[in-house]
Amino acid sequence: MTIAEDLDFGTPAVLSDQHVQVTIDGKPVSVRSGTSVMRAAATAGIAIPRLCATDRLDAFGSCRLCVVDIDGAKGTPASCTTPCTEGMVVRTQTPHVAKIRRGVMELYISDHPLDCLTCPANGDCELQDMAGVVGLREVRYGIAGQNHLDAPTDDTNPYFSFDASKCIACSRCVRACGEIQGTFALTIAGRGFDSRVSAGADETFLGSECVSCGACVQACPTSTLQEKTVIELGTPTRKVKTTCAYCGVGCSFTAELRGDELVRMVPDKNGGANAGHSCVKGRFAWGYATHPDRVVRPMIRERTSDPWREVPWGEAIAFTAERFREIQVEHGVDSIGGITSSRCTNEEVFVVQKMIRAAFGNNNVDTCARVCHSPTGYGLKQTFGTSAGTQDFASVADSDVIVVIGANPTDAHPVFASRMKRRLREGAELIVIDPRRIALVESPYVRAAHHLQLLPGTNVAVINAISHVVATEGLVNRAFVAERCDLRSFEAWEAFIRLPENSPEALADATGVPADLLRSAARMYASARNAAIYYGLGVTEHSQGSTMVMAIANLAMATGNIGRSGVGVNPLRGQNNVQGSCDMGSFPHELAGYRHVSDDTVRHQFEAVWGAPLRPDPGLRIPNMLDAATVGTFRAIFIQGEDIAHSDPNTQHVRSALEAMDLVVVQDLFLNETAAHAHVFLPGTSFLEKDGTFTNAERRINRVRPIMPSRTGRTEWEVACEIATAMGYPLHYDNASQIMDEIAALTPTFAGVSFALLDRVGSVQWPCNDEAPLGTPIMHADHFVRGLGNFVTTPYVPTDERTTRKFPLLLTTGRILSQYNVGAQTRRTANITWHPEDVLDMHESDAELRGIADGTWVEVSSRAGATSMRVRISDDVPAGVVYTTFHHPGTAANVVTTDNSDWATNCPEYKVTAVQVRPRTPVVATP
Ligand code: SF4
Ligand code: SF4
Ligand code: SF4
Ligand code: FES
Repeated sequence: MTIAEDLDFGTPAVLSDQHVQVTIDGKPVSVRSGTSVMRAAATAGIAIPRLCATDRLDAFGSCRLCVVDIDGAKGTPASCTTPCTEGMVVRTQTPHVAKIRRGVMELYISDHPLDCLTCPANGDCELQDMAGVVGLREVRYGIAGQNHLDAPTDDTNPYFSFDASKCIACSRCVRACGEIQGTFALTIAGRGFDSRVSAGADETFLGSECVSCGACVQACPTSTLQEKTVIELGTPTRKVKTTCAYCGVGCSFTAELRGDELVRMVPDKNGGANAGHSCVKGRFAWGYATHPDRVVRPMIRERTSDPWREVPWGEAIAFTAERFREIQVEHGVDSIGGITSSRCTNEEVFVVQKMIRAAFGNNNVDTCARVCHSPTGYGLKQTFGTSAGTQDFASVADSDVIVVIGANPTDAHPVFASRMKRRLREGAELIVIDPRRIALVESPYVRAAHHLQLLPGTNVAVINAISHVVATEGLVNRAFVAERCDLRSFEAWEAFIRLPENSPEALADATGVPADLLRSAARMYASARNAAIYYGLGVTEHSQGSTMVMAIANLAMATGNIGRSGVGVNPLRGQNNVQGSCDMGSFPHELAGYRHVSDDTVRHQFEAVWGAPLRPDPGLRIPNMLDAATVGTFRAIFIQGEDIAHSDPNTQHVRSALEAMDLVVVQDLFLNETAAHAHVFLPGTSFLEKDGTFTNAERRINRVRPIMPSRTGRTEWEVACEIATAMGYPLHYDNASQIMDEIAALTPTFAGVSFALLDRVGSVQWPCNDEAPLGTPIMHADHFVRGLGNFVTTPYVPTDERTTRKFPLLLTTGRILSQYNVGAQTRRTANITWHPEDVLDMHESDAELRGIADGTWVEVSSRAGATSMRVRISDDVPAGVVYTTFHHPGTAANVVTTDNSDWATNCPEYKVTAVQVRPRTPVVATP
């Protein structure tokens, strides 16, 4: 694909059922009522010159370049701010408007450095284009007068620069930061000639509220705001569409290259998940792919104390396959297994789980979703019948009440957070249920109606109290329940939830949330026309994670908030392909499409296609594998793209389990913490080298296309195929598209999916099959996937993890915007600027009690282990609660997390750990 701008219609599309007829330059045009003259002209193929307008932003009308003649209208109106009216006759190219436009351009150019030939945006600058379009040949005013040509450049942001001398004060950047990103970091300071863009209160970009999303850079029509990579490498010459490999939002991007070199990632305006927006990670933090730390050759060693030995692929594959087989001969077929990665493509995951089931001959396969969203899979399957969120992201635009539980979207799902904030600015109400005061509670033009600042570990008590109010105050949507739900299960649930022990008053002490607040929040949610729940790992990573997911589903069903736009139950997935890795059959009890391995019909279908017998008994989950390793019955593991020695709880236990194994095979980009315990390191590929698909949190299947050839010489799925083949199970595909064809043939919800379809339509949300050939944005519209919605009673059971005199504080963990999970990628980019270390947020009163000042090094100890980090005094956490991130191996926050886990899925209870915090000199984590 060569570089060609996506057509920009100048102003956003209008949603109206009415149409009006206008005539533009003699052409009849029919448009939706309210459409601007500029957009109407663009739809008729007539480009009106413009500078301050773009269809990503509301019209502003400041530059006056887009003036037109309109019959009967006074003067020359700006076409971007003038709506079409019935019968309007517009002329866009009269000598009169041409003269005005040239005059406007002349003024702009007279205060602009005339260095186009050496400007980084040469050839990619709207000002330059417009000067040509309006036919400007000379500038009468010269540049000798008052001008801004010596205005300084702000280079503080690591990814883009702000050269104020080139600014035309069009305000596109200011509006992008507000309207698209919702941060409002920029303003136009001064008036008239002195107007200038200011980040914050005259701060640098780095020192301001700016979150480096890049929206202003994208909006800037000149080279004032410019990516540093474009300045260094030159303007791009070709592009490839692909998908971000960080979080579960799954933003679509256009990778723009100059020759073979990636110059920038530009969010795709037509991206189903992001509609042209991005965050600092997807937009800028891709440099890790070529970081010198990357390992690109296979390595093996006999013992973990030996040095690594680089070997050819053939030797590494043979070594791996032989060891796996030898171990099975000696210790039994079930003594080996593997873990798939939510960072890899659907195709890579599918092949690894196939290798395990067909070549290893057991179901000992699990995925890193085990430690994040496995309770979502379980809970939504029990209640709705399928293990996925119910909505598309666009649905939030129709919500009147938005409930965010245990999620921090502005940091962890930033592009979706921007969508959500837009709806909140339009007037939707917000309820936040979280122990921390996350940014959404109060940010520019957004203020939560209710913040239920519960104690960690009491989610189920809070949601039960809310449901109790719904059930006892006549707020149940009985028509919805009667028509759509299993009545027997509803009656059992209703009898349970009405019990006095579930009342807000009875639970206020346990939860720490006042009863009247619980009641107000319940009334607000239940009486909304459309109320939606969004939740994150603060729901799932608990001993009652699955219970909480089902309790949320109960509440949504009881209030009829399922099956249409604006409502629903929406898990915000952490990693880019958590949904996909689960869909692909990565759980030990389920084949692709969440079908149980004991289902003979399903298993026989797979056996027929795979040509191998499959086991009907579920295999081991990750914690079971690790436990079995410590007692010697599990001896070898294949780990695809996951750093379990860093990310999994109770690090000491994980490490001793890995050390106990005879063979640990790690496939990854970098020598991670887990690789320290490995015998084989198989280099993996970055998303820039992958060909396949990711499935995001809204079930959207997006194409990932290679920007560069694999630096390792192999695709990851080829490696799994070769290991399987060397173990005696021939496995081969010509390309990734063939793998998707097999997935589609074996998985009813993917039946209509193919690379050809995705290349044609961009993306689809599963189910995608004969009934829904272009996918399903909103699930359970007419009936639940399981038929009738199933209510499940959800008694609150306090976690075993309690505060004691020895461990009097509750630690909870989460992510920060600039970093991603264990930080292996983001720490190897300039994102490190914003988060050089993990710190412990602590309330002032807890700090004072311990003699701890801001910045003090402390030891954080739990019954599992101890680590040290610096303290940040913060009132984002209540007294009694401390909070940290887990992005740096040095602090190793998971040294202190325990092996408590969800009763149904074994998802670890990361969110609640009783700890003590004491001042101390800095030390390295001591597992
Ligand atoms: S990068 Fe994003 S947050 Fe920062 S100023 Fe630009 S639009 Fe605002
Ligand atoms: S920085 Fe760019 S977008 Fe912002 S006002 Fe200046 S020219 Fe316009
Ligand atoms: S929101 Fe998520 S998917 Fe989108 S650019 Fe950021 S990290 Fe990537
Ligand atoms: S584009 Fe219409 S006034 Fe600037």
